[in-house]
Amino acid sequence: MARVPIIAANWKMHKTIPEAVSFTLEILQALNFSGAEVVLCPPFTALWPVTRAASGTPLQVAAQDVYWADQGAFTGEVSPLMLRDAGCTYVLVGHSERRHLFGETDENVNRKVKAVLRHGLKAILCVGETLAERDAGGTNRVVERQLNLALKGLGMGEAAGLIVAYEPVWAIGTGRNAAPEDAQAVNFFIRELIRNRYNSEVADQVRIQYGGSVTPENAGLLLAQPDIDGALVGGASLKVDSFKLIVQAA
Ligand code: 13P
Repeated sequence: MARVPIIAANWKMHKTIPEAVSFTLEILQALNFSGAEVVLCPPFTALWPVTRAASGTPLQVAAQDVYWADQGAFTGEVSPLMLRDAGCTYVLVGHSERRHLFGETDENVNRKVKAVLRHGLKAILCVGETLAERDAGGTNRVVERQLNLALKGLGMGEAAGLIVAYEPVWAIGTGRNAAPEDAQAVNFFIRELIRNRYNSEVADQVRIQYGGSVTPENAGLLLAQPDIDGALVGGASLKVDSFKLIVQAA
């Protein structure tokens, strides 16, 4: 089954509103959007300006995080309703920086995934092991736990629209990407977990990205793997030139 590759730019805590808007206008000029879905993940402050700039184009916008309640006394949080209001279609959930720097638990990731889907948004669920977990041979076990807990209570229809991003923590921001065959093996494992949990139709539909030091140089080989359906790009997504080359590799 042909899955449309999805390339997402996770800007993390980078870019002012003018910088985000000019990147958006430049990337719209630079790409023809055939053959790949492209998503920008600006910081919260730039969501609305970027969705305005991308309005009427195929370019999609994602938030980097969300809270699960619709509204209320949750100082500093942003609800899925607000993200819809700001024009987002996707939301990153469970990014390793949220898990490891801000104490995000698997239970909270599950609440967030459900809240995102309840509001008609699409989740990009991030999973991945630390270096210590990998060295201890625990990659599959960690990824399986994160995936199972994140998908708890999700029906077949909800799971089918999911994007999973496999991002080994040791590869993020380190310049040390996973070898294409290693990333392929984990992405294949994730797809088989989904096949066992749901069915083959869902498993063949779910897009599974790889993230972690993706660059224009390594994107081609990574994206050529049969179970790597896209990339979640950090550092190399901050410049139009390098991000454009990664999209073109897809
Ligand atoms: P880098 O591409 O900078 O390694 O970041 C990856 C990432 O965390 C994307 O979400």
